[in-house]
Amino acid sequence: MDTLLAVRARGITKCFGDVVALDGVDLDVTQGQIHGLVGPNGAGKTTLLGLLLGLAVADGGGLEILGTPVGRALAAPDGVAGFVDGPGLYPSLTARQNLAALAALRGQDARTAGIDDVLAQVGLTDVADDRARGFSLGMRQRLGLAAALLTRPRLLVLDEPSNGLDPAGKKHVHGVLTRLADEGTAVVLSSHRMDDLEALCSEVTILATGRIAFSGPLGKLAAENRELDYRLLTSDTHAARELALGTDGVRVVDDAGLRNDADVLVVRALVPALDELVVGLVRAGIALRELAPVVSPLEAAFLALTQQQEAGR
Ligand SMILES: Nc1ncnc2c1ncn2[C@@H]1O[C@H](COP(=O)(O)OP(=O)(O)OP(=O)(O)O)[C@@H](O)[C@H]1O
Ligand SMILES: [Mg+2]
Repeated sequence: MDTLLAVRARGITKCFGDVVALDGVDLDVTQGQIHGLVGPNGAGKTTLLGLLLGLAVADGGGLEILGTPVGRALAAPDGVAGFVDGPGLYPSLTARQNLAALAALRGQDARTAGIDDVLAQVGLTDVADDRARGFSLGMRQRLGLAAALLTRPRLLVLDEPSNGLDPAGKKHVHGVLTRLADEGTAVVLSSHRMDDLEALCSEVTILATGRIAFSGPLGKLAAENRELDYRLLTSDTHAARELALGTDGVRVVDDAGLRNDADVLVVRALVPALDELVVGLVRAGIALRELAPVVSPLEAAFLALTQQQEAGR
């Protein structure tokens, strides 16, 4: 038997006048998966998330949410919660009153809806009785997440939930999302923060101008054979540079758009050639103090795939 998919999208198209925001998008999200959407500004992320939330209807293609085909009506499918473009809040109500009002709208009893619990989960207990009007962007994001949690969703859809979060807020939000996924909830979120996506998501979809450039496990992206730029900090930069220049498959990148720190060497290579260089350094008595990719494999893949797609238009 197939695992029940929280999202099954096939050939989704969505236009706004002449603008093709989504162009034949397929997306599978299994239950318990945190799936990240990445892409440049205007790629179609918010549009796609809006379709999952029932805020808009696709022009073409098929969309099933939690096993049920989505019709033409503008309504949040059962079991789905979340927000795009920031959560809708009542500014004159406190955090707690906002949640109580939402619970009441859903016919829940505010006393048993679990309001204190969701406030604690997102780290807003201390400001529970402050008005939302005075909330910062990060606090509003967290209150929006608390509101979504109240509905006990089986699919949670979040548009750039990391925006404005301080490190403590991020820790709370990551903890909540990971726990939900462990309990079987599917989470689809967009982000421009590659580090967040790498920390949270098992699969990512890269969108570029409405089309899918990549969709699958992060490991598959990282394993793809591509040259990356690496920063090396050694005990003798000059000697290391000479050695790198003499190593097959390794290029010294002087202008990597980095602050050109005289003590740092930046090379571009595939992993086997990089290994050669490291072995050579050690043999030559040069100590390697740091070695790290300049950008993460996800960011490198994202840039390469989107550039490729743009060049192909
Ligand atoms: N309501 C709308 N009316 C007209 N055009 C729209 C509308 N919503 C989106 N678009 C267009 O559709 C395309 C996709 O926009 P979308 O907001 O989905 O991108 P995004 O990936 O979320 O970008 P960002 O990273 O900036 O949030 C863009 O060209 C945008 O201008
Ligand atoms: Mg957007």
